[in-house]
Amino acid sequence: MSDDHQLRVSKIRNGTVIDHVAGGQALNVLALLGIDGSGGEAVSIGMNVPSDRLGRKDIVKVEGRELSQSEVDILSLIAPAASINIVRDYEVEEKSRVVRPDHVSGIISCPNHNCISNADEPIDSGFAVLDDGVRCDYCGTIVREDELAASLDVN
Ligand code: CTP
Ligand code: ZN
Repeated sequence: MSDDHQLRVSKIRNGTVIDHVAGGQALNVLALLGIDGSGGEAVSIGMNVPSDRLGRKDIVKVEGRELSQSEVDILSLIAPAASINIVRDYEVEEKSRVVRPDHVSGIISCPNHNCISNADEPIDSGFAVLDDGVRCDYCGTIVREDELAASLDVN
């Protein structure tokens, strides 16, 4: 349990707490989830908060929204140590660690405009997950970790 002296960001009533995000990655997490405040949801961010496990960590709290599995998958690409806490009526109802998939499909668009996955064909994009990015199944283009937000389908 967080001790009161350590609690820097208020508790939320309903929503998702993304905890144990590597220090400095919180804004990338928001970008990956397509959260820019325009949806009207309350979002709180703690950056470089002291953590026993990570030394320093970021934390993101999104009020009124529970993340889907595909959102959690994509999150794992930039925040492999993150824990996802689903909060309902102020209580943590579900806690899970993100699991890095070997492969992701339908989340990221290939940045190569000539790639067959971008043609008018009924082909879903697919990417193999590497240590520091993903590789297109169809053309081999590598999207690095820091370029992922720009290649997301949701944007
Ligand atoms: N939290 C929150 N609002 C709530 C309940 C919890 O913002 N209504 C946050 C806590 O501040 C914490 C995270 O959700 O950052 C997980 O809560 P909890 O499981 O109670 O904390 P810990 O036991 O410290 O979690 P862990 O073991 O995963 O570090
Ligand atoms: Zn491609």
